[in-house]
Amino acid sequence: MANLENHVTVLAFLVAWTALLVSCKIGAGPKSETEALLQWKQSLGNQSVFESWVGSSPCKWRGITCNNVGNVTVINLAYNPLTGTLQNLDLSAFPNLLRLDLKFTKLTGPIPENIGVVSKLQFLDLSSNSFHGTLPLSLSNLTQVYELDVSRNNLTGELDSRLFPDGSNSVPKTGLLSLRHLLLQTTGLGGKLPEEIGNLKHLFLLALDENNFVGSIPQSICNLTELRILRLNQNQFTGQIPSKIVALRKLTDLRLFSNYLSGSVPEELGNLSALTVLHLANNSFSGHLPPQICKGGKLVNFSTTFNSFTGSIPISLKNCSTLYRVRLEYNELTGDIDQDFGVYQNLSYLDLSYNKLRGQLSPKWGQNRNLTMLNLAGNMISGKIPDEIAELNQLVRLDLSSNQLSGEIPAQLGKLSQLVFFSLRDNKLSGDVAAGIGGLSNLVSLDLSMNQLSGQIPVQIAECSKLQFLSLSKNQFNGKIPDQMGNLLELQALLDLSYNSLSGEIPNQLGRLTSLENLNLSHNDLSGSIPDSLSSMISLLDINLSYNRLEGPLPNGTIFHSIKPDAFSNNKGLCDDQIPGLQPCNHSSVTQKRREKSKIKPLIVIVFSLASALFLAFSIVLIIILAGPKQAPKNERITKTDNLFSVQYFNGKIVYEDILKATNNFDDRYCIGAGQSGKVYRVEMTNGKVFAVKKLHTQSTDFDYQEIKSFTNEIAALTEIRHRNIVKLYGFCYQGRHTFLVYEFVERGSLADILSSETRAKELGWAERYKIIKGVAHALSYLHHECSPPLIHRDISSKNILLSSQLDARVSDFGTSMFLKPESSNWTTLAGTYGYMPPELAYTMAVNEKCDVYSFGVLGIEVLMGKHPGEVISSLLSPLERKLIQLEDVLDNRISDSMPDEVADKLYMLWNVSISCICSNPESRPSMRTVSQLLEI
Ligand SMILES: *[C@@H]1O[C@H](CO)[C@@H](O)[C@H](O)[C@H]1NC(C)=O
Ligand SMILES: *[C@@H]1O[C@H](CO)[C@@H](O)[C@H](O)[C@H]1NC(C)=O
Ligand SMILES: *[C@@H]1O[C@H](CO)[C@@H](O)[C@H](O)[C@H]1NC(C)=O
Ligand SMILES: *[C@@H]1O[C@H](CO)[C@@H](O)[C@H](O)[C@H]1NC(C)=O
Repeated sequence: MANLENHVTVLAFLVAWTALLVSCKIGAGPKSETEALLQWKQSLGNQSVFESWVGSSPCKWRGITCNNVGNVTVINLAYNPLTGTLQNLDLSAFPNLLRLDLKFTKLTGPIPENIGVVSKLQFLDLSSNSFHGTLPLSLSNLTQVYELDVSRNNLTGELDSRLFPDGSNSVPKTGLLSLRHLLLQTTGLGGKLPEEIGNLKHLFLLALDENNFVGSIPQSICNLTELRILRLNQNQFTGQIPSKIVALRKLTDLRLFSNYLSGSVPEELGNLSALTVLHLANNSFSGHLPPQICKGGKLVNFSTTFNSFTGSIPISLKNCSTLYRVRLEYNELTGDIDQDFGVYQNLSYLDLSYNKLRGQLSPKWGQNRNLTMLNLAGNMISGKIPDEIAELNQLVRLDLSSNQLSGEIPAQLGKLSQLVFFSLRDNKLSGDVAAGIGGLSNLVSLDLSMNQLSGQIPVQIAECSKLQFLSLSKNQFNGKIPDQMGNLLELQALLDLSYNSLSGEIPNQLGRLTSLENLNLSHNDLSGSIPDSLSSMISLLDINLSYNRLEGPLPNGTIFHSIKPDAFSNNKGLCDDQIPGLQPCNHSSVTQKRREKSKIKPLIVIVFSLASALFLAFSIVLIIILAGPKQAPKNERITKTDNLFSVQYFNGKIVYEDILKATNNFDDRYCIGAGQSGKVYRVEMTNGKVFAVKKLHTQSTDFDYQEIKSFTNEIAALTEIRHRNIVKLYGFCYQGRHTFLVYEFVERGSLADILSSETRAKELGWAERYKIIKGVAHALSYLHHECSPPLIHRDISSKNILLSSQLDARVSDFGTSMFLKPESSNWTTLAGTYGYMPPELAYTMAVNEKCDVYSFGVLGIEVLMGKHPGEVISSLLSPLERKLIQLEDVLDNRISDSMPDEVADKLYMLWNVSISCICSNPESRPSMRTVSQLLEI
């Protein structure tokens, strides 16, 4: 009976199936590849990618490749903004498709249910889009796929274990059974596919990272025994790591970070002897780390950050000489900092902070020569800091805070000239701070607080001229605050000298710290009056001078009257007429003078806020000497303001004259470059500081008062820009005859100069060029997307990309364009460099970010070709001609480096990104943010 029923069912299906086949024939019939592609193109609207998609044979279309009998085998539209879905792409039209590459195409919607129909597919990359929904079960039909990447989408749901069934049990897809499944599938009736239907047993790479997958990791993943790379990071997986994962013997790269995984990590993970990357960070793992994790001797990148691992440091790490980056911070690991770690030639990054490590730092730590970052904070490490630490001359960051280190700070530490961040906070260090500290010339943050350091603050600390954060609080420093601390002009976040035994007066020079936001001198033994100069610390948000022996009136600045009176309490005799809690001042001649001044205070404040940002780092400051004597009568108010300005706060005229003197009245000998808008001079001041000064062609008499005011504001904004890939602008000078901008001097000169020199161009290998272009992308992304209002450079060209001694790109010469007057005849010629200007500027004045994107595209191609692309650009703009240009053929042949695949991939990326940047339609060009993200990969 049951048998009969079965037969009936099968019969019914067969009938239905036949009917379906018939109806298919009668209906539209299977689409041709051309039709299917055109139908999809139509649904995606007007995209520049599709300009070549005309005619009847898709084989010549951009992004399409055919085999020798004309069947489509590859669809590759990666990095083209398609902005649509896959719903209208009839996949069934492509029975021969081997590669489908749609990464970074801005596609949305679900992954089509019938994706399994392209059953010969070997490579599927849908990463970095906005696909949502679940993974279709039909994926399991793609039995030939070796690379499956759906990372960085919005996919959700649990992973169905049937996607990764056991290959060994698979039943051949023949007979009625599969016919029935096919039928169910094609008719969209749904129903569950049996486990046997296909398997992904060839998978080499499975990347599901950065989605919203939930539930546990299916055991069946452990059947994919060919897997080399498994990335499940940044999802919401729960539960444990399946213990059978150790069956994936070929695994080299396992990333599980940033999920909700828990339990212990299978101890036999160490049996995976090919493992080079293991990322377990940001989960809730507990238990011990697998002791044999580096048994294979290949581990390079190991991270367990932010879990609750306990027990000892894995024993196999000690001899694991391949280690490059190790992050074990924020666990509860125990062990001995000396005995459990070895010497690692390659180790660049080691973070063991906030564990329970003990022991002493032995001299052998000085042998990890490639360390750039060492963080051992928050452990129980004791003993002296060995002198050998000073051998780690690559160190950029050294954090030994919150341990129990004692003894003196090694005098040689000043040798760490790369160091940017240094903290010894909260230890038991004692003795003097050696003068050598001045050698830390790149230091940005120094925290020696909460120790038992004594003696005077070494004046050499002022040689750490890049310091933005300095805390020496809670020590036993005595003597005066060195006047030289007023040279730390970059100080911004904090200057904290509180809780010491400092005496004498507060140095006048501290008033020069015009970027400083927090000043804490409380709990010392300071005496005398508060210097008036402190009122020029216009960035101050908080100040604390309490618990000293200060006396006399508070200075004028707003900050002194807007913070809690506690900040001044417990002194000897501070007075003020407004602040409750302080005695009123008796009106001595001093205060009388102040009162007079306060009448003009509003004016000063206005001038100040205009000028504040321009105040300068060194002795150089912005000058506005508006009117030469000739123009003085023109506007009395200006003259008055300016007199106040220059006399009271700096002597602008002197700086101006210094520049004239240093360049022998702008002698061509000092000229280091010339652009459309002016000449650039190298200016060495008498104090040895070197600047680049750009003298504009513009005549200052072209401007009126309103314009000057608006420049002042805009330039003030520009001087506040701090980005490592942007040349620092210090200010602008404006004087009767000359207008010029003062910039940071950048050592290696311009990219254009280097590329045009046969010998120097060879020095710029592919890795360097890629780094440079990435730097430019970051800088522009910053100007366009992180500045408010967005700043447009308008003149990106290889002449304006300067290179630091480290070959980092520095975008220069912004701000020039704002001196150009729209109505003046030379406006368009000045608003960019010929050959970098987008075509639309020929018919519109509308300069927007997309102009910079175009110029960037030209620059990208220029870097690859080693020269300005010239006519190549117009060929690249034409879809047909573009196909004839292969990257290999145009690459700068002066570089003979053999090229690793990784580099080749990057160059292709740069090539494709650059081409999309020079798209004739500004709308179709990517944003600099996208460009910068793409180049980061
Ligand atoms: C892991 O390696 C150990 C020692 O080599 C061996 O005894 C054990 O069976 C291996 N485990 C697995 C699951 O292969
Ligand atoms: C580390 O290597 C040394 C020499 O190669 C060897 O003597 C020692 O036993 C190894 N230690 C561990 C823990 O494998
Ligand atoms: C380690 O440093 C040496 C010399 O400083 C360098 O040659 C080598 O390439 C570095 N190794 C790595 C892996 O960075
Ligand atoms: C000193 O004051 C600053 C704020 O101005 C504050 O951040 C810092 O914690 C203070 N230092 C101490 C030791 O309290």
